[in-house]
Amino acid sequence: MNQTVICPGSFDPVTLGHLDIITRASRMFDKVLVAVLVNSSKRPTFSTEERIELLREATKELPNVEIVSFEGLLAEYCKKSGIGTIVKGLRAVSDFEYEFQMAIANKKLNPQLETIFLTADADSTFLSSSMVREICSMGGDIGNFVPACVHDRIVRKLCQS
Ligand code: PNS
Repeated sequence: MNQTVICPGSFDPVTLGHLDIITRASRMFDKVLVAVLVNSSKRPTFSTEERIELLREATKELPNVEIVSFEGLLAEYCKKSGIGTIVKGLRAVSDFEYEFQMAIANKKLNPQLETIFLTADADSTFLSSSMVREICSMGGDIGNFVPACVHDRIVRKLCQS
């Protein structure tokens, strides 16, 4: 069976934790759509275009990964695109309640939709985009937290803001 899965997120910006989940999903499934949420209410630090570009650069060695954006409900986007599986990373127990709620809500909205969780790599359990933004904007070193190929672009942007 040719299986396409979706890895949704804010990716504001992409971290090594995201890249780990995307890479592992790309080995398990035929195609991985990485879907960037276009936040209409929240104002992300990186624009949709910037988040997409950073993800494209970070995943350029993974031929079965495609970067897209979506607005509105993920369950509706999956229905429209014919996608039946969401892949998400779970870092810690603290992630579980929120992710569990989202998985159930998405299944209620679209009963064909399954959510699969991959356990985060041990080095990424503490890592989040908000932590990267905070550390970097206070002058800290984010070299161990973001993909090397997009490090400088992320630093430049966060130093400006
Ligand atoms: O990286 P994040 O911020 O944890 O990703 C969360 C995301 C984008 C997967 C989630 O907020 C989402 O799917 N938003 C789209 C709107 C939606 O479908 N909301 C209902 C989910 S219960």
